[in-house]
Amino acid sequence: MAVTYVVRPMRVEDIPQVQAIERHSFSLPWPAHAYRREIESNRLAHYIVLELPGHEPLEPPASTWLDGLRRLTRQLAEATPVREPAPIGGYAGLWLMVDEAHITTIAVHPKLRGHGLGEVLLVAMFDIAEAIGARWLTLEVRVTNFVAQRLYRKYGFSEQGVRKRYYSDNGEDAQIMWSEALDDPDYHRRLAELRQALQRRLGSVELRPLAGRDAVPLDRGG
Ligand SMILES: CC(C)(COP(=O)(O)OP(=O)(O)OC[C@H]1O[C@@H](n2cnc3c(N)ncnc32)[C@H](O)[C@@H]1OP(=O)(O)O)[C@@H](O)C(=O)NCCC(=O)NCCS
Repeated sequence: MAVTYVVRPMRVEDIPQVQAIERHSFSLPWPAHAYRREIESNRLAHYIVLELPGHEPLEPPASTWLDGLRRLTRQLAEATPVREPAPIGGYAGLWLMVDEAHITTIAVHPKLRGHGLGEVLLVAMFDIAEAIGARWLTLEVRVTNFVAQRLYRKYGFSEQGVRKRYYSDNGEDAQIMWSEALDDPDYHRRLAELRQALQRRLGSVELRPLAGRDAVPLDRGG
């Protein structure tokens, strides 16, 4: 049976899990209220999460109806949710500025890195950028973040400048990277090939998008 990952828009209730990954990923993590603002009031922002398979109920099924009733009463009294939120393996986001999609963040849970999930999130960023009418993607990355730079180069980003002392924690420079033009047919073809190679790499993993403005079909081709 195929394992299913779902890429879907980030919701406010995802923020605690996003923050847990964020704290393990960045030396200047965004506070929870920044994510809340992005989701609730920034109309230019598009944030997604990658839901992991194996979403289990909070507790095992009740053995008898009386057990079930007791549990429900307790849950109502404690106002606890019946199910935990689905586990999240990573997230990413962008802002649309005129016809440029600025990737603001991308991160995969440290325990899940190296399995193609960063690529899944980046592919989703490309899909969203195209869907909302961007012509390019751009981002800043620490000059020492070779792993992320390699991921971006794989997808056709190149260095187009430097922002001096961009990061306030250690005064590190940021490399400014740009994709090629999304409407360039050769680039489109290369992206489609990368997408197919990613799907092969993930093998039995099925990437199921949810319906909605940020739904992201991986096998869209073209
Ligand atoms: C950057 C990040 C999102 C990559 O996610 P990931 O799931 O580990 O990456 P993937 O497994 O999808 O790998 C995709 C590509 O990234 C690069 N990459 C991934 N891990 C790498 C490593 N350990 N060394 C060098 N390159 C690596 C490679 O180009 C790789 O493609 P390949 O497998 O064909 O070589 C992840 O490392 C992360 O969350 N880092 C911390 C947060 C961060 O730095 N975000 C970027 C901010 S600009």
